[in-house]
Amino acid sequence: MFSIISSVSFLVLVIILLFHSSQKQQKKSSMKAKSASKSTPPLSPTAQIVLGGLSLCFFYLFLSGFFFSLFSTHRMYGLPLMLHLIVGLLFALFLCAFLILYSDNFSSFCFQNLFFWLFALSGLSLVVTSLLMMLPVFVYQTQKALFEIHRYSALISVLISVLFLYTAFLENESK
Ligand code: HEM
Repeated sequence: MFSIISSVSFLVLVIILLFHSSQKQQKKSSMKAKSASKSTPPLSPTAQIVLGGLSLCFFYLFLSGFFFSLFSTHRMYGLPLMLHLIVGLLFALFLCAFLILYSDNFSSFCFQNLFFWLFALSGLSLVVTSLLMMLPVFVYQTQKALFEIHRYSALISVLISVLFLYTAFLENESK
């Protein structure tokens, strides 16, 4: 069931973004170029490390998690699972650093900031469910529920991260 919902969600997201960007292109070509473009200030070295680390960790967690969910009949195991756990810890640390250092930049209301906070929430859910899954105190049914919440939080975090990057790209384009 999860693999069907994930595949359909990814497909729908791609179709929506393709449609939206073609609409944007049509609008843009009908309106003449605005005044001189404003450049985006370069990211500080700290921002580059935190953002780079967060993105690399998220990319590995996405690949390892969704490979097993979409293409394997087995649950994640062995080296990919061990790396998923270790990279998961790094992901949690980078997410904390990112929120502490840069959450002020996302305080006004707009879609991009809304996606930022939804990503932060889904990231928190991923961290909490994975920690709870590792505690030997829950019965099997609860473990299974935590696993499902983890997987669906992962799906939401991936969809939201794509929307966040898309709105950031659009904002950069319109500058
Ligand atoms: C905070 C960091 C994370 C930790 C510690 C973590 C830990 C885990 C663990 C322990 C499992 C295996 C559960 C089991 O089979 O019993 C798992 C599964 C999974 N994780 Fe994560 N995870 C983290 C973040 C993420 C992220 C960011 C994503 C995706 C973007 C993700 C996607 C998945 C998926 C899809 C599965 C299910 C794999 C399967 O079907 O076997 N995880 N994770």
